[in-house]
Amino acid sequence: MTTAAPTAGATPTTLAAALDLAVERLVAAGIGEAAARDDARLLAAHAVRVTPDDLDGQLRGPVPADLWTYVERRAAREPAERIVGHAWFMGHRFELAPGVFVPKPETAEIVDDAVNRLHGLFQAGIRSPLVVDLCAGPGTMAVSIARRVPRARVYGIELAQAAVRVAVRNAHGTEAKIVQGDARDAFPELDGTVDLVVTNPPYIPIGLRTSSPEVLNYDPPLALWAGEGGLQMIRAMELTASRLLRPGGVVLLEHGGYQLESVPRLFAGTGRWNAAASRPTCNDGCLTAVRGEGSGRAA
Ligand SMILES: C[S@@+](CC[C@H](N)C(=O)[O-])C[C@H]1O[C@@H](n2cnc3c(N)ncnc32)[C@H](O)[C@@H]1O
Repeated sequence: MTTAAPTAGATPTTLAAALDLAVERLVAAGIGEAAARDDARLLAAHAVRVTPDDLDGQLRGPVPADLWTYVERRAAREPAERIVGHAWFMGHRFELAPGVFVPKPETAEIVDDAVNRLHGLFQAGIRSPLVVDLCAGPGTMAVSIARRVPRARVYGIELAQAAVRVAVRNAHGTEAKIVQGDARDAFPELDGTVDLVVTNPPYIPIGLRTSSPEVLNYDPPLALWAGEGGLQMIRAMELTASRLLRPGGVVLLEHGGYQLESVPRLFAGTGRWNAAASRPTCNDGCLTAVRGEGSGRAA
């Protein structure tokens, strides 16, 4: 079933005019203007079967029949990536499936940081650094790092079957190896040898409903909720990262903007890290910590 153009005025006859109207409709539904424009382009590109980058060549063309159905679904706050079945992250297409977390723009900051650190390791003489992505979802960080740094050996682990399936597909053409498993027991064979751990674990405190409806209603609960205070999985990832990393190895951990103090405090309190500090990202926060020599304080 297709839906008619949401206008009291003339029905737009070109895709360019329809895009403007779609943006208006999405803004009226409470979506910020920049996001509304990006989403309208993603939906329109899907409707005319081109990539968003190639959409400009279609703007004088007719309005695809499905566009208004997609726009109405988006106006009801279904994420655009769920409607089209894929997300664009750092210029690459990531397949999705129901129950698989949608990559978020702030995670790109962590990938950029990881890539810079890997280049630093090359300069320090480490030819083929070892990277582990804990809680890999659709392969967002593992695949992006493997694409940008083909010399790195990149492993990702993810618990949800549906996410593992799409992550393996998304890793196609890269050397990233994605496995299914619990990040808490990840890769015992790599203990003490890993140069860089990246992770975006679940970190929302139970009951905190400040995330957008797109996240709360469509991202899978396994990707979001992390007990009281939201630190349950972060605590577990601290243990796993400290086990995997060599002394001097680094963990980059995404967390909530409301955890800028609690997360570095948690890491510092274990005695296993030489430096632990968090900074805000465009939407959330990111901890950087350097693995020390010792096994830490007794719990
Ligand atoms: C916030 S999402 C992040 C996904 C991806 N890293 C990204 O940044 O787009 C958290 C992911 O952790 C996975 N997860 C939750 N608990 C896990 C566990 N114990 N072991 C492995 N993965 C887990 C969820 O299924 C979800 O895909």
